[in-house]
Parts: sequence; structure tokens; C-alpha cells
Amino acid sequence: MTAWSVTVCLFSCSVLKFIRKTGLILPLASHFCSKSTDDNIQMDLSDMRKKYKSDEEAFEEDQLISLDPIKQFGEWFDQATKCPEIGEANAMCLSTATKDGRPSARMLLLKGYSNEGFRFFTNYESRKGKELETNPHACLVFYWEPLNRQVRIEGTVERITRQKSAEYFHSRPKCSQIGAVVSKQSSVIPNRGYLREKNAELEEKYKDSEVPIPDYWGGYIVKPHQIEFWQGQSNRLHDRIVFTRIKEGETELQEMQHQAEGGWVYHRLAP
Ligand SMILES: Cc1cc2nc3c(=O)[nH]c(=O)nc-3n(C[C@H](O)[C@H](O)[C@H](O)COP(=O)(O)O)c2cc1C
Repeated sequence: MTAWSVTVCLFSCSVLKFIRKTGLILPLASHFCSKSTDDNIQMDLSDMRKKYKSDEEAFEEDQLISLDPIKQFGEWFDQATKCPEIGEANAMCLSTATKDGRPSARMLLLKGYSNEGFRFFTNYESRKGKELETNPHACLVFYWEPLNRQVRIEGTVERITRQKSAEYFHSRPKCSQIGAVVSKQSSVIPNRGYLREKNAELEEKYKDSEVPIPDYWGGYIVKPHQIEFWQGQSNRLHDRIVFTRIKEGETELQEMQHQAEGGWVYHRLAP
């Protein structure tokens, strides 16, 4: 976040606080705020709605560039990377769950994809790491807002090889490598000073040498069994085309299911 956007954000917050304290009703404030006292916050967001695509721009089956969903993902991903309003096309939400099904989600960066699956890197001892060790199933969601597109990927998760993790680790800027060593991700720490101190110590320690990859850091791959492509429509008749990997021994197509490529079938879902 730039200093300018921080200033704008702080200014907007002060204006909203002022409106709340003084009871001053501005058109913008009355648009979003219903009853709101210091103890009881109630925001009415029922009018927050954006136009998506028109029916002429619907996502029809004949617009799939490939019946292989990984290639189709590649097409949408490339379009997202070329869209100037999208800052990080590879930012995605990763959902994991504990063994007894309590979910958690957070944003991560996709660091590669292939027919095999979707790769990301993190701390194996973090909350997500612990959840994945006991429940190796995950869901990834990309939302490319200016394109009105969402992709959901569900699959099983495995660690990638140590060698591949190390290759990626050492390709990162040295400060990021040190950052990964410093941070025992998701553990409680006393304050920011603690991180600064540890960072300075490690910068000194590794100033003339390579930073070894910590055992607790590396990559995962999500091996997909389902990939859904969603495109938004202004009239809410959104398009949803879902690819499912054919299970071993499965030969018959289900009703309204179509043959795809590379061991996949697809169907359309109601929005
Ligand atoms: C845009 C964005 C990208 C991120 N990328 C990563 C990433 O690639 N790896 C990672 O471990 N954390 C990444 N984070 C931080 C995570 O969201 C999260 O705070 C962290 O991994 C700890 O999650 P956990 O406590 O649920 O395990 C990113 C955060 C944002 C907002």
C-alpha cells in the first residue's frame, strides 16, 4: 500500500467517524449506513451491486478454447495477466480444513501449474500446513473482478519434492529467503521488534553465504479432480461450466454430461 492510499484510507475513516459522531447525513453515508451507534454497528449494503456481462457476452460451451480444463485455465489466466486492472492475477484463496471439517481460508500466490496440478509455497508448520497434513484436501478460488470471472479448483494436496522446493526457494530474492526463515508462520510472537531483530541477525549470519532452505518451508501441489469456470452476467444468469476428472473404471457419461479431453468430462450448472 502506498503512503498516498494509506492517507486516503485514514482520511475516509476519519470522515466516516465524524459523520457517525455528529449525526451529519451526507448522501454517500446515508447510502451505506443504516442505524449505527458506538456499540451497535449495522451497515446496509443491499445496494452494493455491479453490472457484469450482458447476455451477448455469455460464456457458451463453444467458447471453450479447449476441452482440457488445464488449457482452459491457462487461457483465462493469460487474459487475467494481460488485464491492466488486475494487479496480481496469480493471487488466489486457498481453503483447507481440519480433520473434523472446520474450514479456514487465506490468500496465496499460485507459483505454477501443469497437467499435474497447481503449485504454491508456504510454511509446512503454519495453520494451513498443519491442516493439510491431517486433511490433504483443498480448494483454490481465483476471482478476476474486472473480467467478471471466477475459477474454483478442488483437489487433493501433496508436498512437492525437496529438490523442487529448494530450487524455488533459492530463486527468490535473498530478503524473501531470510523472511521465510525468520517467520515461524502462524505462531504467536511478542511484537514486530522481535521479527526485526531476528531478521537483522540472519542478514548478518548469511551476508556472505547461501541461506539454507528450512525443513519447515516448501511447496505443495493441488491435484485437481474438479475445476469450475464461472462468468458473471448482469441478469444473474451466470455461466458455470464444471470439469470433473473421470474416476477409474467410470465409462458411462451421466445425464447432461459431455466428454472432454485428458480424462475429464464436463457439464453446466445452474447459477
Ligand atoms: C495476495 C497475498 C498473497 C500471499 N501469498 C502467500 C504465499 O504465497 N505463501 C504464504 O505462505 N502466504 C502468503 N500470503 C499470506 C497468507 O494469506 C497467510 O497470511 C499466511 O500464509 C498464514 O496463513 P495460515 O496461518 O492460515 O497458515 C499471501 C497473502 C496475500 C494477501
